[in-house]
Amino acid sequence: MKKIIAANWKMFKTAEETKQTITELNKLLENIPLEKKEILIFPPFTSLETAVTTNNNDKIAIGAQDLYPAKEGAFTGEISPAMILACGATWVLTGHSERRHIIKEDNALVGQKTIFALASGLNVVACIGETLEQREAGNLYDVLAEQLQQTLAKLPTPLSPERLVIAYEPVWAIGTGKTANAEDIIEAHTIIRELLKNIIGVSAMQTRILYGGSVKPENAQEILSLDNVDGLLVGGASLKADSFAKIISA
Ligand code: PGA
Repeated sequence: MKKIIAANWKMFKTAEETKQTITELNKLLENIPLEKKEILIFPPFTSLETAVTTNNNDKIAIGAQDLYPAKEGAFTGEISPAMILACGATWVLTGHSERRHIIKEDNALVGQKTIFALASGLNVVACIGETLEQREAGNLYDVLAEQLQQTLAKLPTPLSPERLVIAYEPVWAIGTGKTANAEDIIEAHTIIRELLKNIIGVSAMQTRILYGGSVKPENAQEILSLDNVDGLLVGGASLKADSFAKIISA
């Protein structure tokens, strides 16, 4: 299966800035072989439609950073999967650590969002990861197990394996410049692969597991070569087209 290189733009970029960056990226991608890579960009909601229309080729898929798990209704400020799909976006992130820790989303809500998104036809990158406190207390396995079990408890069946992707993002490595070292990444990804086998069975071997947390052009290749690493979720270093293109070509 192709490796995924995903850009999480968080609360950065107006529609105009989105247009400029994707136009620039499209030009850079003309010189990068992409047979073995799938590229995803998650811009803010207000840039979704611009991202889809600016991206005039099939090289990049566009996704939203969040959703609300209902078809429609009195949910002020929220966005439904149907609205995301109507913009032409096909992916969504769930459970990002900034939503868990700043917006206070719990495992149950992340699970509802993941299941509803998949059932609505969106593909999902579900994010999990431990805080430094949890890691230092020796709770890595338990935290990952709890997050995965609740996220994937009621998956729609059948579900083709390319529609659900897991992103391991240790909270202490996000936006801090501290990348997890190779051993940390291999340990966590191996745990996740084993947990996935228990939860979803054989398709766990085809489920892509991304690493995220201070990925940059200088470390992308090494991380991508590690066991059980099937791609990258990139924040800060994805905001500039040339930096993201270097990560894609890693
Ligand atoms: P970062 O963010 O690359 O800026 O650490 C990654 C993420 O939050 O997805």
